[in-house]
Amino acid sequence: RMTTFIDALMKKMTLAEKLGQLNLPGAGDITTGQASNSDIAGKIRKGEVGGLFNIKSVDKIRAVQQIAVEQSRLKIPLIFGMDVIHGYETEFPIPLALSCTWDTGLVEKSARIAAVEASADGIDWTFSPMVDIARDPRWGRIAEGNGEDPYLGSAMARAMVKGYQGDNFNSGRTIMACVKHFALYGAAEAGRDYNTTDMSPVRMYNEYLPPYKAAVDAGVGSVMSSFNDVNDVPATANKWLMTDLLRHQWGFRGFVVTDYTAINELIAHGLGDLQVCSARALMAGIDMDMVGEGFLTTLPASLKEGKATLAQIDLACRRILEAKYKLGLFEDPYRYCQPERAKTDIFTSEHLQAARDIAAQSFVLLRNQGDVLPLKKGGSIALIGPLGDTRENMVGTWAVATDGSKAVSVADGLRAALGNQGTVTYARGANIVGDSLYNNRISVFGKNTNWDSRPADDMIAEAVALAAQSDVVVAALGESAEMSGECSSRSDISLPESQERLLKALIKTGKPVVLVLFTGRPLTIPWESQNVPAILNVWFGGTEAGNAIADVLFGDVNPSGKLTTTWPQNVGQVPLYYNHMNTGRPLPENGWFQKFRSNYLDVSNDPVYPFGYGLSYTHYQYSAVTLSTARAKGNQPVTASVTITNTGAKAGKEVVQLYLRQLVGSITRPVKELKGFQKVDLAPGETKTVSFRLTPADLKFYNADLRYDWEPGDFDVMIGGNSRDVQTARLSWAK
Ligand code: IFM
Repeated sequence: RMTTFIDALMKKMTLAEKLGQLNLPGAGDITTGQASNSDIAGKIRKGEVGGLFNIKSVDKIRAVQQIAVEQSRLKIPLIFGMDVIHGYETEFPIPLALSCTWDTGLVEKSARIAAVEASADGIDWTFSPMVDIARDPRWGRIAEGNGEDPYLGSAMARAMVKGYQGDNFNSGRTIMACVKHFALYGAAEAGRDYNTTDMSPVRMYNEYLPPYKAAVDAGVGSVMSSFNDVNDVPATANKWLMTDLLRHQWGFRGFVVTDYTAINELIAHGLGDLQVCSARALMAGIDMDMVGEGFLTTLPASLKEGKATLAQIDLACRRILEAKYKLGLFEDPYRYCQPERAKTDIFTSEHLQAARDIAAQSFVLLRNQGDVLPLKKGGSIALIGPLGDTRENMVGTWAVATDGSKAVSVADGLRAALGNQGTVTYARGANIVGDSLYNNRISVFGKNTNWDSRPADDMIAEAVALAAQSDVVVAALGESAEMSGECSSRSDISLPESQERLLKALIKTGKPVVLVLFTGRPLTIPWESQNVPAILNVWFGGTEAGNAIADVLFGDVNPSGKLTTTWPQNVGQVPLYYNHMNTGRPLPENGWFQKFRSNYLDVSNDPVYPFGYGLSYTHYQYSAVTLSTARAKGNQPVTASVTITNTGAKAGKEVVQLYLRQLVGSITRPVKELKGFQKVDLAPGETKTVSFRLTPADLKFYNADLRYDWEPGDFDVMIGGNSRDVQTARLSWAK
């Protein structure tokens, strides 16, 4: 039916109308890029617009849709996109934090709630999930993805696509997803946003491409091209990427949209003028042009000159019409404009409760010396730091649909939890950054942070005095929301100096200090990791951040989050990731400098915190690994098991991780690779057996010929609570 319908419609369409479907202007309610579009209503009337994004509110969207379906010649409905990245109005933790739950069910739930809210308010298409593998914490957009690991990243990609789209995307309560940024955007050189990417095919296929493919296999409706070039051809004009790989190898059937003005940016990449770039993008396999209007304005000339083909334009147009058809827009163009639902289904208490629960599970307890945490509900708390009393910062980057002032700050959360059982007194103590940085980058550092113009020493003195008269110090420090995300790369990822000075002064008071650390990336905190008694990393927890932080600080929730990125000691170690190759001159484990070994003179090879790391208020003891057989053959599955005992006095959740190492291969293989994880609940004193079923599928990788297969031989099977502290068993697997 769909094909017949679209065939008939396309027969009626002029070239201009077909190109109109390929055009995605931005409405300007939200700013997510530099350029803007004009006369949108006029263009819609002329059939020159296929969809619109950055428009907010059901009434506005309804009105624009009405123009399309009542005043344009063919009455083709528009699709409406938005960056619904980690929630709509109910904001969940940033994606990097969500991944630290290691709970695909929770992640799917957060995406579904976002879809329910967005679909009530006119939005039927989200530019999410962002699944770019990132191993360079200088890159600000590491905040938007699932960290450094392809296995976990793929699991999260599937969960998000399912959460947004459901089983079919025309229920009216789900929306179409868009996996981005295709491809390798997270490998930008030196962590500088939009920078060049250059990578061997083997690395691409084994380490960077799997999450995009997982989203495609999960049925994602659309793909967004990335800004960067991929081995010397910008992704947006990269035929190998967009057609050979995406469509021919992976069988993707949806449509590809560019990132914001990415076709126009091909000019700066050095590919030619707008006409040349637009034709190249189209012929490479791009279907929809975001903001730039190169397709609309230049493809007619390229068609005449034989530089673009009508067949390719038809294909792109058909793919976009198909998406609209699947979304049910031809049946009811207002399916996603539900003013009644917009009143009842957005920012509900149920959604806020989910946001609170999920946020609490995303926090990672990095240190808890002398069991400073949990805090008792009582006494006097000195809440200190530029992130202690701000609501807007709680929602983090890419929270475009929400009103940050409705979020719960740390001060709000602590006071609500304490009631009249104790006191919370606040002092700012420091600005987010020192004056010189602030003066240069006011829009980033100053946003929502209530700049305090008092001298830094005065602010510190006030905070120290407050600390001295309190029982405990809760220091809410770190990055402001906009210090990570797009175009927020940092060459120094330590705590800004203004806050470092404050923290050292607080430690000197001798009071117990709990660092509640806000960040959208791994930070370099070697000093803090040795000198601050307790560190709870809370990322940006979303609308309910403050309540969730209180839940964990007071022990109503036992922390269970585990890092999905490696935390380096300093920037010089970057990229530092757990699944690296061994090299021909590896350093013995736990060693430091040895001449003629792969290491540094001035720092060990170790991270401050390894991938998979995170503490709890209880303790878990792992047994040795047992295998159902130590000698497997062919497709015979192997079960690897450990028993885990909760040896502490609190119930908790532990993320049990399984890693494999292929000891000998046709090409070099990583020292360990995540191949399974399970989150288990354990009551105090309880012991559980956790088993993983391994099959040859878990051993497969792309070899030097890019053939996906497994090789017989010996494997280390490692199970533990993080990538460093594991129990190991040896397994031989014959073909
Ligand atoms: O979806 C985003 C993308 O991640 C970065 N550039 C702008 C797009 C649309 O807002």
